[in-house]
Amino acid sequence: MQKRISPASRIEGAISLPGDKSISHRYAMLAAIAEGTTRIGNYSTGADCHSTLGCVRALGIEVEGAGTEFAIHGRGLEGLRPAAGDLDAGNSGSTIRMLSGILAGQPFRSRIFGDESLSRRPMQRIIKPLGEMGAGIHARDGKFPPLEIEGRKLRPIDYVLPVASAQVKTCVLFAGMFAEGRTSVTEPVRSRDHTEIALRQFGAEIEVDRHKITIAGRPKLEAQNLAVPSDLSSAAFFIAAALMTPGSHLSITGVGLNPTRSALLDFLSGMGANIRIPNLESRDGELVGEIAVEHSALRGGTVDGGLTAALIDEIPVLAVLGTATQEGLTVRDAAELRIKETDRIKTVVENLRRMGVAAEESADGFFVPGRQKLRAAELESWGDHRIAMAFAVAALRAGGESVIDGAEAASVSFPEFWDTLAAVVKS
Ligand code: S3P
Repeated sequence: MQKRISPASRIEGAISLPGDKSISHRYAMLAAIAEGTTRIGNYSTGADCHSTLGCVRALGIEVEGAGTEFAIHGRGLEGLRPAAGDLDAGNSGSTIRMLSGILAGQPFRSRIFGDESLSRRPMQRIIKPLGEMGAGIHARDGKFPPLEIEGRKLRPIDYVLPVASAQVKTCVLFAGMFAEGRTSVTEPVRSRDHTEIALRQFGAEIEVDRHKITIAGRPKLEAQNLAVPSDLSSAAFFIAAALMTPGSHLSITGVGLNPTRSALLDFLSGMGANIRIPNLESRDGELVGEIAVEHSALRGGTVDGGLTAALIDEIPVLAVLGTATQEGLTVRDAAELRIKETDRIKTVVENLRRMGVAAEESADGFFVPGRQKLRAAELESWGDHRIAMAFAVAALRAGGESVIDGAEAASVSFPEFWDTLAAVVKS
């Protein structure tokens, strides 16, 4: 699908966005192995989170509901049943990596696969710890999906994560629930902690000591009534569009502002962004608030070290925003971007070049020069949702009408993106 995007004269309005993708996956998986019926409101409408629901159903769990409201009839830690066929994770790295932790502890074999992009993403990062815990895992060429997981009785481990990855941390903590004893994961830098919060919410015993997270095995998880906050990573596209476009005022309500995710807002404020949080509350252990943002003159900045992990999903749209800053944007220590849904270093730099921006690629990041006039261009998503949405934002600031090829990719996390964009763009 192609989308034609004309320049915007300003961004204005009050919007609410679909539920957080990261939190939706975790709630659905934990609900499946909790005892009783968990009700989830504002569940993500993205295809990725529906892949998780599909897998949960295939494992014998009844899921009722539609749209954003679901009831998941959990059957306890021992309640999953072997799927009749292969489990389909679609485009979703979170589904395959996190669910594998649960599958590793089952008394049966599973096979889980994904689409072409997911089939190229590395799985050694979960195969290694799950193997150490005693699961049998076979992958294509030893590292790629499909994964054949022979669930076994697991032993607890103390695992030191070689790369910062919340998906891998979650995988090991989920497997730890099926082991007798205490399993711990130590992270190089603190990654998003939705798993720790959700596990505690469902009743697991979990301890956090700086970068070390420990879970006690065999928890009794209890069903919950939960409302998913709106996704800050989806909000990021609208925040960037408003910051870049003179005369813009935008308010986004009910957004998840967990401190391990909201580094984005601190980073933007540090560059001079006018961003306010008029209200903030705690819901199911997660912080939720309203974001008010206005067009702002931005200095530019550098994303590196621990900040890179905290902003990893926002880097494509930050690159676009970098073109409108005084000094540009430098990204380093971001080799992980090369193994996302696309090689996001390459796909960001290529689309920026098509718009006339001399972005420079490096092994683990890029530099985007500031004060750029963007040229209207034919842009590509290469099937990557965040690339489609980031360059829709860029197109709003171009000198004429741009085209986004593969615009349907946005549906992976945010099917309503194009309609929401149309509602706030004033021409
Ligand atoms: C996620 C963790 C990040 C992120 C992904 C969602 C999660 O991936 O990029 O979109 O929900 O835990 P990694 O764990 O690979 O860094």
